[in-house]
Amino acid sequence: MERREFLGSLTGPVAAVCAVCMGACSKSSGGSSSTPAPVANFTIDLNSSLLTVGSSIVQGGVIVVRLASGNTSTSFTAVQVACTHEGTSINWNASKNNFLCPNHGSTFSTSGAVTLGPASSNLKVYNVNISGTTMTITG
Ligand code: FES
Repeated sequence: MERREFLGSLTGPVAAVCAVCMGACSKSSGGSSSTPAPVANFTIDLNSSLLTVGSSIVQGGVIVVRLASGNTSTSFTAVQVACTHEGTSINWNASKNNFLCPNHGSTFSTSGAVTLGPASSNLKVYNVNISGTTMTITG
């Protein structure tokens, strides 16, 4: 018996329960990630990481990018690495100065704002604090 035939043969409460289960098990069509952005609290040594403008690293579910020279917080951005559409890891696109999701092509600004869908929610932005050559990412 084919799945469709089986489902068609169900009646009453059994059919209702199966309908609920099938809905709960189906892939989300809403297009937004249900995984919350991670909580971050880690440090990065700027003597050995993020030395050049345009460089990036991923740590603890966060992508950190050097946007400008100098070790000040405004020289960096830190956002969640999981795309808000379906959770694919985004990449820093230095030539366009934005984040690009390789899965369906969403783009995000350096401040995490959606600039092209299908993602509809902004990326979580993390706090960047720098003391000497130690960067601390929190949020
Ligand atoms: S997962 Fe679909 S655009 Fe990122």
